[in-house]
Amino acid sequence: MINLKGKDILSGAQFSREELDRIMDLAGEFRARLERTPSLDLLNGYILATLFFEPSTRTRLSFETAMQRLGGRVIGFSSVESTSVAKGESLADTIRTVDQYADVIAIRHPRIGAAREAAEVAEHPVINGGDGAGEHPTQALLDLYTIRRERGEIDGLTIALSGDLKYGRTVHSGVQVYRHYRCRLILVAPDALRMPEEVIAPLRAQGLPVEETTDLEAALAQADVLYMTRIQKERFSDPAEYERLKGSYILTREMVERVNPRVTIMHPLPRVDEIAPDVDALPNAAYFRQARNGVYVRMALLALVLGRIGAGVWV
Ligand code: ASP
Ligand code: CP
Repeated sequence: MINLKGKDILSGAQFSREELDRIMDLAGEFRARLERTPSLDLLNGYILATLFFEPSTRTRLSFETAMQRLGGRVIGFSSVESTSVAKGESLADTIRTVDQYADVIAIRHPRIGAAREAAEVAEHPVINGGDGAGEHPTQALLDLYTIRRERGEIDGLTIALSGDLKYGRTVHSGVQVYRHYRCRLILVAPDALRMPEEVIAPLRAQGLPVEETTDLEAALAQADVLYMTRIQKERFSDPAEYERLKGSYILTREMVERVNPRVTIMHPLPRVDEIAPDVDALPNAAYFRQARNGVYVRMALLALVLGRIGAGVWV
């Protein structure tokens, strides 16, 4: 029996296979329950704080939806200007303060390691909703859940990850969870945006099949899942470099139909131009279902870290 009560969620690397499977099962259970009733009362009386120092649509709103559908409440902010950080307050003091109010904290911050710093000073569980170009573990979990739902299984699939693998935090967390399912990974990126060696090295050391290419069509032809990502404009110090690299890979409907019509197409969103709008109508374009799955997976995480799952409490 897994126990995530009181645990921080900081990195895709922290999970065991058993924990991943349990989170997936629980997300499926919440999905089924929400098909019968709009909300539950499992987290009645609990408070989630969402501290977003960077823009977000899905992560913040799906965390809030998850908490509210579980009967809990939400406090928080979505921009720094409205907080005392604008007066010079440190991250640590902000976290220490919010820790007095809330039972669990979800944070997004532009600095790598900020969620870990927050976890070091908070008594309550801290969930990393994205730390700069570092990690985005809850996205990796909802991606995993989406793959399982769309494909029926995860073990042994070929997953092509394409786009900005250097700065894209969702893929940094993603590869840490796919390794438990012995997925074959094809990394598709321009040379300047390759996945950092320190992210790939542990996978190779574990003997996992990881290939790198710059050729999207060649990867698409072999993939069960194609995971597109946005070039992370906000991480570039040189705007000219961004201009050079934007539009590196654009997936079109024609390309999917010609090369691999049955591939499952995913994207963490927001999309800029990596996926042409005419792809959206394909039945295997899964990215908006993926966004919806974020609610179920975050419900599972909130219930687990608050210790509301387990013998005598719930399923
Ligand atoms: N929304 C995801 C993130 O915050 C992906 C992206 O912004 O491109 O990492
Ligand atoms: N996928 C994701 O993290 O989206 P937001 O940046 O809109 O939260």
